[in-house]
Amino acid sequence: MKKHVETSLSHIAKFAPFAEQAGASHFPIYNTGTFDLKKQDGDKIYDYTRSDNPTREMLENLFTEVESGAGCVCTHTGIASVALLFETTLKANSHILVEADCYGGTFRLLKVFKEKYNVTVHFANFLEFDTMEEILKNNPIDLVLCESPTNPGLKIIDLKKVANLAHNYNALFAVDNSLATFISQRPIELGADFSLFSTTKYISGHGAVVAGAIVAATKELSDEVHYYANAGGRSQNPMDVYLITLGIPTLKVRMKEHEKNSIIIAKFLEEQEYITKVTHPALESHPQHKLAKEQMDYIPGLFCADFTSLELAEKFIENTKIYGEKCSFGSPDSRVEIPAKISHASFSKEELEAIGIAEGTVRFSIGLENVEDLIEDIKQAVK
Ligand SMILES: Cc1ncc(COP(=O)(O)O)c(C=O)c1O
Repeated sequence: MKKHVETSLSHIAKFAPFAEQAGASHFPIYNTGTFDLKKQDGDKIYDYTRSDNPTREMLENLFTEVESGAGCVCTHTGIASVALLFETTLKANSHILVEADCYGGTFRLLKVFKEKYNVTVHFANFLEFDTMEEILKNNPIDLVLCESPTNPGLKIIDLKKVANLAHNYNALFAVDNSLATFISQRPIELGADFSLFSTTKYISGHGAVVAGAIVAATKELSDEVHYYANAGGRSQNPMDVYLITLGIPTLKVRMKEHEKNSIIIAKFLEEQEYITKVTHPALESHPQHKLAKEQMDYIPGLFCADFTSLELAEKFIENTKIYGEKCSFGSPDSRVEIPAKISHASFSKEELEAIGIAEGTVRFSIGLENVEDLIEDIKQAVK
């Protein structure tokens, strides 16, 4: 019987590659570089932690299960899982179709692949299927990539439709699932070939570690991902794996609380005269609100609010006492940042405008604090 995601998350040690000792709730951290080949006689032989490690394998088995995939590699950062995706699926002169609203680090990495390997990057708005189809029809696209919700624009992409479109043109389809996470949405079940994510965010949940993972839909793709992970040394160290396992069992309750708090604050901001627009997929004012509710079980606590000016946005950030000015999201502490200055500094002004990000746009990542304290802090900061 396939279990619900939260049931699997609450029993991580069961995903260990060999029996846990005395039913321990946590599998040991195999902090070792090498394994003695002479001392092993099981089906699975470990030789070197870069290629395989039992502690990492436990997390990879869990992610494979909850994302409904065929195999997974845990990587040392979230962006390393994006790099590993490109190393696995692209070659020199490849073409890739990417949603224009993507994480700034992904955008920067695409520039690297363009400059070094002559990869042609086609950016498009994935709400416009005709434009996408035109690009797929006229170019040999190897890979289609998007986030949903997108970061920072918080657009919701119809993943089932994009998967069908990509496959009609023999392209692979990958989804960066960092925002929604597998507790809310499982892209492989909707037709994607890969689901990848930064575990730095909601999944580890406590801001204590930087890491990522990529799950492949088939054994063949998974074998390829493992090959390139070993070749390029992309794998995650066992100590970081352990830190992630500490946060995972509470993912569902945290996501619910992030969602609840963020909706209250987004609605409060919507009513303030110094805010011109609030973009949160959980609000009815969001253009893809209906799809967001259908595609995700919980809506992440990340949203954007446009202040009337950059000066006011900066004043708010300067004066706030609870919200840190920090990149990243999904931690217990609430954070704010101006995407144009921090997470998306690699975008030009025009590129930001094209995805709906203004100078005075502030991205909020709402944490687990008392929501009244969070609102009082906003009130005093803008005075
Ligand atoms: C959507 C998305 N993907 C990937 C990453 C990269 O993850 P990491 O910071 O863990 O390398 C981020 C980081 O913010 C992100 O927002």
